[in-house]
Amino acid sequence: MARAPRMTVLRDSLIRQIAAQGPITVAEYMTTCLLHPQHGYYTTRDPFGAQGDFITAPEISQMFGEMLGLCVAQAWLDQGSPAPFTLAELGPGRGTLMADILRATRAVPGFHDAARLHLIEASPVLRRIQATALPDLQFHDSADTLPDAALFIIANEFFDALPIRQFLRAGDGWRERMVGLQGGQLAFGLGPVTHLDALEHRLADTTAGQMVETCASAAPVMAALAQRIGQHGGAAVIVDYGDWRSRGDTFQALHQHAPDHPLAHPGQADLTAHVDFEALARAAHPLHATALTPQGVFLERLGITQRAQSLARTLDGAALQAHVAAHRRLTHPQEMGHLFKVLGLHPHTAPAPPGLDT
Ligand SMILES: C[S@@+](CC[C@H](N)C(=O)[O-])C[C@H]1O[C@@H](n2cnc3c(N)ncnc32)[C@H](O)[C@@H]1O
Repeated sequence: MARAPRMTVLRDSLIRQIAAQGPITVAEYMTTCLLHPQHGYYTTRDPFGAQGDFITAPEISQMFGEMLGLCVAQAWLDQGSPAPFTLAELGPGRGTLMADILRATRAVPGFHDAARLHLIEASPVLRRIQATALPDLQFHDSADTLPDAALFIIANEFFDALPIRQFLRAGDGWRERMVGLQGGQLAFGLGPVTHLDALEHRLADTTAGQMVETCASAAPVMAALAQRIGQHGGAAVIVDYGDWRSRGDTFQALHQHAPDHPLAHPGQADLTAHVDFEALARAAHPLHATALTPQGVFLERLGITQRAQSLARTLDGAALQAHVAAHRRLTHPQEMGHLFKVLGLHPHTAPAPPGLDT
């Protein structure tokens, strides 16, 4: 008998589960699709590059990691070069960003000797790739098990992959968007009206029919970082798409480099939502949160154009064209320069990491 393709296996299992137990939240759907042990999107593949579904900033050009390396190393120097310290990354993908950071910081006296590399990664497939790309590292399932030490941590496109719940304003309450069934197929629906303390502050800036999103799993991550940075020093630099406050439906799917309906290919498409940076900053209390800085501005301040010019002198032909296009893609406001934002978190007693609006 022919085996059902993987895509059908996860969809069928979701349909059976919903038929038996009722609709699930968008967060439950997202978690299953991204991290199901056998059929999840991240657990079963390397999703990056031309063969995958999307390309991230560090995969576009080494310059992205080099600029982040300068930023983190300067923040470490500004805090008196604590040693040893934890150099960590949330959701490191192929390990490219951290490899570029390590290369860019080789000449910073004492930085490599003091750094202990820790990665928080859920995907066994990506862990294997990271272990070959990077030296002497330790893996964690969550930020809770990071060492009690000064912590300098980065995250690029990590928080957008965390599961969100969606709520539609109805009077002075909210109806949760659910994934249920219609004609035997997955379909969005709405739960009953509820009143939620966590969304009380959003009654002032929304009206009936508007949607807001929450990401419950981001807060414990931020609390774990804040506890270590608050006690021992350090900083977090978080890059992602989104804005200061969540507004509207930003739940989206990308399948083979094209936008897709989020319910169309469970386990086969990347699912993301815009990041609510205000919620991250709140959960990192009592750390100081910088203002949000657009990625293009951040990279320019750290010297990406000078670096691009210097690299360009070693290139010609198609390689030079690709390099110029990569610089534009990372920095131009109509490409990633404005959509992606950078948030810095640091102790009140330390200066903000360089490149960020304070
Ligand atoms: C969009 S990729 C970004 C990869 C990398 N930072 C980059 O810029 O290329 C998201 C990363 O987060 C990881 N990830 C997703 N959800 C996670 C979770 N709940 N816990 C730990 N890692 C997770 C994925 O496996 C992947 O490495």
